[in-house]
Amino acid sequence: NDMTPPTREERVEKLKGLGSSRKRVEDARFTQGKGNYVDDIKLPGMLHGDFVRSPYAHARVVSINAEAALALPGVVAVLTAKDLEPLSLHWMPTLAGDKQMVLADGKVLFQGQEVAFVVAEDRYIAADAVELVEVEYEELPVLVDPFEALQSDVVLREDLEPGADGAHGPRRHHNHIFLWEEGDKAATEQVIENAEVVVEEMVYYHRTHPCPLETCGSVASMDKVNGKLTLWGTFQAPHVVRTVASLLSGIEEHNIRVISPDIGGGFGNKVGVYPGYVCSIVASIVTGKPVKFIEDRMDNLMATAFARDYWMKGRISATKEGKITGLHCHVTADHGAFDACADPTKFPAGFFHICTGSYDIPVAYVGVDGVYTNKAPGGVAYRCSFRVTEAAYFIERMIEVLAMELNMDAAELRRINFIRKEQFPYTSALGWEYDSGDYHTAWDKALEAVDYKGLRAEQAERVEAFKRGETRKLLGIGLTHFTEIVGAGPVKNCDILGMGMFDSCEIRIHPTGSAVARLGTISQGQGHATTFAQILASETGIPADSITIEEGDTDTAPYGLGTYGSRSTPVAGAATALAGRKIRAKAQMIAAYLLEVHDNDVEWDVDRFVVKGAPERFKTIQEIAYAAYNQAIPGVEPGLEAVSYYDPPNMTYPFGAYICVMEIDVDTGEHEIRQFYALDDCGTRINPMVIEGQVHGGLTEALAIAMGQEIAYDDIGNCKTGTLMDFFIPTAWETPNYTTDFTETPSPHHPIGAKGVGESPNVGGVPAFSNAVHDAFRAFGLRQSHMPHDHWRIWKTANQLGLHG
Ligand code: CDP
Repeated sequence: NDMTPPTREERVEKLKGLGSSRKRVEDARFTQGKGNYVDDIKLPGMLHGDFVRSPYAHARVVSINAEAALALPGVVAVLTAKDLEPLSLHWMPTLAGDKQMVLADGKVLFQGQEVAFVVAEDRYIAADAVELVEVEYEELPVLVDPFEALQSDVVLREDLEPGADGAHGPRRHHNHIFLWEEGDKAATEQVIENAEVVVEEMVYYHRTHPCPLETCGSVASMDKVNGKLTLWGTFQAPHVVRTVASLLSGIEEHNIRVISPDIGGGFGNKVGVYPGYVCSIVASIVTGKPVKFIEDRMDNLMATAFARDYWMKGRISATKEGKITGLHCHVTADHGAFDACADPTKFPAGFFHICTGSYDIPVAYVGVDGVYTNKAPGGVAYRCSFRVTEAAYFIERMIEVLAMELNMDAAELRRINFIRKEQFPYTSALGWEYDSGDYHTAWDKALEAVDYKGLRAEQAERVEAFKRGETRKLLGIGLTHFTEIVGAGPVKNCDILGMGMFDSCEIRIHPTGSAVARLGTISQGQGHATTFAQILASETGIPADSITIEEGDTDTAPYGLGTYGSRSTPVAGAATALAGRKIRAKAQMIAAYLLEVHDNDVEWDVDRFVVKGAPERFKTIQEIAYAAYNQAIPGVEPGLEAVSYYDPPNMTYPFGAYICVMEIDVDTGEHEIRQFYALDDCGTRINPMVIEGQVHGGLTEALAIAMGQEIAYDDIGNCKTGTLMDFFIPTAWETPNYTTDFTETPSPHHPIGAKGVGESPNVGGVPAFSNAVHDAFRAFGLRQSHMPHDHWRIWKTANQLGLHG
């Protein structure tokens, strides 16, 4: 009857805590047009900015004439580098220790570079005025090839003193940025020289772009009376933007409020600071009015941070039986005109040295040369933890090439080289301590799920049928086992612009037992409002439905380093759990007082403290919260709040086993994905439904990257892929069905054992798709071909292999 108290299971269920597939609370507004994005910010008297951009990839700016533009009714100002120079804002620091022009200062270094900022009463007038600004250029020789750039006499960065060190040490050429090395070079070379089997391959991970559906933008509003600057923007790290804005503008940090409203996808594109943000701030200060800058699609694709563009030359050695003995990798990293890579300061190649992957490789070496070219700046982690995606692609290709050389099954080659369960925590040859893993279990589960043996038999038959002329379709089985490294990161070695990469959560329980929690992270579609409340529900006993999660307002949220590289769960998620535990510790004192027993005589049970041995005597969290505000409790302050700043002791190491089965039409180069199986292990799973959504989205981005998406340039630096006509974004039409699966290996150092998951499918998906293409042609001798595997490239591969008769 009604009076029956809920069972323990019912109480647990009511919380919708860890492990619950709670529906996403943010979707109510997203699916009903009630989201609030930057472009929805409309302030009285607001002006609009637009850029004059360079049509050339490398040119001197001889003159800029804005007379005609300024004469257009509605145009308020045209800013150039000359206007920014007195404020020292014509250049800005990048996250990688380099500096970048805000507006062209004497020359332009990539097509689409910002030359002048037009401010007008509406967006259309601004665009018309852009056409009226006359810029005289004098063309200079263009360098689009990083290898050529390192040989060329053409000096790209005339602002840098020749021969002077860069942010990461010596530069050996005027177009060189850094050489960064890890591992034992001499020992690795010796092992490789004396090895029974060695393969060498150039693996190129092409330039692409995160291309979030919502482009980047900002609205700056300078209140000159109160000296306060409010900045709304598409920021993945709002607090860092506030600190940078303060350092650049000289406005004290407490007078700057940065707000990230709803964000329509970030994927790393919205981590850095772009000239548009700086110009909107300056324009607001100059005009005294709010100024909005919203990129169009071409602005976004051509000028904001690209991803990848890594030329990875690998050598891997093994015994005849297939035991890997050493790995050597040299990367030529094309950073474009400015090194605006978003990495922790000490890691100019991010976490690329996770490139030993899931394998127990005794000795390894990595060297990365950063190079300037006439391309857009950046080098961001596109749904990726600082270059782990490049690393995973590299090692998973090298494994396939080695398997071919050894004439061995690639699944078996992986199996005999996996780090074994009992080896964790495992220190890799390149210095990482993998916290946990169980690769064999995941691998066996995956192979069994797809009937791997059956697939191989079918593939062999297909090859025979093809040779007999009975079919024109080949079958590829793309295998991947990836190891991720997420949760940057320990303050001892991870910082961005000197800010340690901790994160934070502040929670306030209201008298009636509901709560608000604020975090230093910011959701861009990951569902934080849903899942962080679940962590708190399990920790505090307050139902997730009674907890509001707020992020993205620096006036209210505690300082945090933001959301990228799947760091939210490993870092802010840990802070959240610990803030919840602080609440519980205080609640315990209050409960003991109310129950008239010693603190140690009560114990936690789902949503209440219970007197040990007397389960009928308890106080629920709601009763405790009420007492916290209404009763004088000796030795206990009123109220129930907590804040936690969490410095993770280590990264977390999610992993996964992906298998892609692909049919390839040799005559048209078309592909069809017959099956895609994705097993992810992200430790303790907070919300299985959200995880599945993350995996589906990440796999679809991986499909895009592997099979068609590319930022391409011609020889004179014209960006050939500046619109969505040319830059591939898959729709439902191109997207296959995915089968998701999991194992659960908790992180031993994370308070709830959770690892990140958001980027795993991008990291593991790309090699799975690419390996499937390669595998289809393995029987015909294909060792390595470059992504993206669009129909034309696949056709060409088939042609080069002589398969067109
Ligand atoms: O930093 P970001 O939010 O992009 O990535 P994440 O930490 O991997 O989290 C992505 C989403 O997956 C969040 O809503 C997490 O709460 C959820 N997640 C989960 O439910 N269980 C995990 N073990 C990891 C993430």
